[in-house]
Amino acid sequence: MKRVNRGVNRVVIIGMGLVGSSYAFALLNQGITEELVLLDLNKEKAEGDAMDLNHGLPFVPSKTNIWFGDYEDCKDADIVVICAGANQKPGETRLDLVEKNTRIFKGIVDSVMGSGFDGIFLIATNPVDILSYAVWKFSGLPKERVIGSGTILDTARYRFLLGQHFDVDPRNVHAYIIGEHGDTELPVWSHADIAGKKISEWTKNNDVKDLEEIFPNVRDAAYHIIERKGATYYGIAMGLVRLTKAILDNENSVLTVSVYLEGEYGHNDVFIGVPAIVNRNGIREIVELILNEEENDKFAHSVNVLKKNLEPVLR
Ligand code: LAC
Repeated sequence: MKRVNRGVNRVVIIGMGLVGSSYAFALLNQGITEELVLLDLNKEKAEGDAMDLNHGLPFVPSKTNIWFGDYEDCKDADIVVICAGANQKPGETRLDLVEKNTRIFKGIVDSVMGSGFDGIFLIATNPVDILSYAVWKFSGLPKERVIGSGTILDTARYRFLLGQHFDVDPRNVHAYIIGEHGDTELPVWSHADIAGKKISEWTKNNDVKDLEEIFPNVRDAAYHIIERKGATYYGIAMGLVRLTKAILDNENSVLTVSVYLEGEYGHNDVFIGVPAIVNRNGIREIVELILNEEENDKFAHSVNVLKKNLEPVLR
């Protein structure tokens, strides 16, 4: 059924913890949506956030109607963004959160779908690939309208660190992190370039070692940040805003997000981070990069690790 476009964009955020509230703040300051609805188990918290953000409206680029609401507000939402759930504690991996967050998600998705929601789900809560699969299964929405943040932040970290290394604006660094948003993610080194020139052609002999340290710092960035400040939230919030803008502005932009594979990259029945073209209808197309043997093996390992952790969703 072709969704009726109300002509007014509405984003609903479920979970106003550190990620959800940072995302709301960033959305507002970039003037991305006309309506913003805040939901949280703690209604007072959501109400306080709505009041606090409304008081900043005189300072933002475009008018946004913000209110703290309930699941009924999802009916007319274009995008529902789930940021709710437990987050990693120091020493925990993202996959340690599967059981707990799958249970939380079942209730959330049932409540959203009960409103008559017929838009696009964005998922930020970890383990994001597993929980994206859960949202797709629990909601019954077509796969192209369930999108996990995936490796959008990992790719940004990779581009930042490569840009820093070569002293080039990260927006001119084209390099992707694919796979699980987690310990088994991998860099697509064979396709990494700056201004169309392969990264390998930019390196000088004395910096190969520094370059080799870049990917581990990308993969382990969240642990390093959590050790220092207890959680990560600004980077992922800005990645969610980028994804939201690509949808609402019908951009057809390529972003590395968690999408459902049906044969792409040689794998099926898994949500995992790969480059995909994003527009108003969600995922228009998955971009299949030609991976070398090492990259294919690492990607297959990442798929297998995710599939091994799907049990709580499939039971
Ligand atoms: C991180 C969280 C979002 O990578 O998983 O910072």
